Amino acid sequence: MTDSTNNDAANGEAGQNTDAGSGDMFNTAAGWVLFAAGLGLGLSIVAGKVFHGNDPQRPDTLGYVIEGVEEEAGAVEMTMDEALNMEGVDVSAGEKVFAKCSACHTIEAGGANGVGPNLHGIMGAGVGAVSGYEYSGAMASFGGQWGWDEMNDWLNNPRGYMDGTKMGFAGLSSIEDRAAVALYMNENGSNLAVPEYVSVAAEEAEAVEGEEAAAEADQNDAEATSEETAAAQASE
Ligand code: HEC
Repeated sequence: MTDSTNNDAANGEAGQNTDAGSGDMFNTAAGWVLFAAGLGLGLSIVAGKVFHGNDPQRPDTLGYVIEGVEEEAGAVEMTMDEALNMEGVDVSAGEKVFAKCSACHTIEAGGANGVGPNLHGIMGAGVGAVSGYEYSGAMASFGGQWGWDEMNDWLNNPRGYMDGTKMGFAGLSSIEDRAAVALYMNENGSNLAVPEYVSVAAEEAEAVEGEEAAAEADQNDAEATSEETAAAQASE
């Protein structure tokens, strides 16, 4: 009997609990919804702060540089020396690039000055020194010679390289094109030596060989010294 009473009471309580329970469950659910909403709001504020959602800032250059990849492709850090020694960078490639220049420049010996000066023998020549051509003040007074690196920098960005030049050409964005066209110009009336390029890997290999040779020499010296000492001791 006691059991059944207890059961009844338990059932009653259970009944009440169920009612109260559904209320709690509703509150709990509402609480979670609120919590989730709050969390979402918080996250969007944080995200806004991190990603400048409220204050869009466009970087100067769009996209991002994946340095390892670009370096492997040789697009970023390549020097003129390296470009001049690349496969496919040669006089005939340069002749094609020169089509972009020929609107304003002739290249053959004794060719006429046009919008720009005749470029026969320009590699290694003085800057702004073609006779009979009227240069801008900027180029006439610039000074120096057209070496490989100077030509590379000039053709990369003529107006950046020489403030006030009247060469109305935006430049060649690819260093391979700049190297090739410089080789082509060099072949037409100039004869600058093309710089050699030794890759870093090859240089390191050489350095290691050098160290090994030096270590060997040291060892030989040491042996020689000990032999001398032995000889000296023997003669005493
Ligand atoms: C739209 C015409 C135009 C084009 C295209 C052009 N140039 Fe020029 N270039 C000029 C002018 C004009 C000058 C003289 C600049 C000055 O006096 O400031 C000049 C000067 C030069 C000089 C200096 C010459 C010297 O006597 O010191 C070089 C080198 C040169 N250009 C190379 C090139 C090459 C290579 C290209 C093609 C990749 C090219 N130019 C495309 C107009 C042009």
